[in-house]
Amino acid sequence: MGVTRKNLKKHGTGRTVLVTAGPTLEYLDPVRYLTNRSTGEMGYSIAKECLKKGFPVSLITGPVFLPPPRGAEVVKVDSASDMLKEVSSRAPSCGCLIMAAAVCDFRPAERQKRKIKKKEKMTLRLIKNKDILGTLRAKSGFVKIGFALETDNDIKNGLKKLKDKRLDLIVVNKAGGKRSPFGKSRTDYTIMEKNGGSKSFKNISKPVIARVIADAAERLMREKHEKTKQ
Ligand code: CTP
Repeated sequence: MGVTRKNLKKHGTGRTVLVTAGPTLEYLDPVRYLTNRSTGEMGYSIAKECLKKGFPVSLITGPVFLPPPRGAEVVKVDSASDMLKEVSSRAPSCGCLIMAAAVCDFRPAERQKRKIKKKEKMTLRLIKNKDILGTLRAKSGFVKIGFALETDNDIKNGLKKLKDKRLDLIVVNKAGGKRSPFGKSRTDYTIMEKNGGSKSFKNISKPVIARVIADAAERLMREKHEKTKQ
């Protein structure tokens, strides 16, 4: 049986892992949107690995072409602001957030009710979306895991995001080289932790790195739980 929001309580909400996946869509008008190339493969693989470990999982997902992982509470969203709403309402009853979604940093300043007709020139005004991971204020004992997709200075930028977004762990993924970070392809990752630990993985598939991330999430939740008990 799937884990619904109602029976999450029965499973012990403090252990629930909140995973985000896929791209967000930022609508310009009823038929057009801004988005990115995320396929959701990473977030869905992490959700599956967490379910295998027996954690209740809530998966907040942008539009993707993947079957929902069996046993997860799956919430479909379009925009970054919808994702923010769903993440914020669930986070207080969860033990961990794994933010694998490729959230669009910008949205059109206006969403037109009617289809925009073509003209010779058009200027698109964009405004910044809220940073979900960065703005989420975590209760004590809550584990925050984020990603960084970088074309340059991946380690330096990853460390900055780890610190600025007050994460426990960050998964840095390099884009733009000979390996694509999108879809089913294998790629290189560096995992860095708040406590200074770091490990690199070369030419590895998403299900395999997802297992490493789920193992780390489990360990970090246990460590934080033990700390809050002292
Ligand atoms: N993220 C988020 N909310 C946003 C943008 C990003 O929660 N509005 C999360 C992503 O899910 C990811 C992490 O922040 O876990 C880093 O995302 P990334 O796109 O690498 O970096 P940004 O913070 O958007 O910064 P930049 O695009 O300048 O590299």
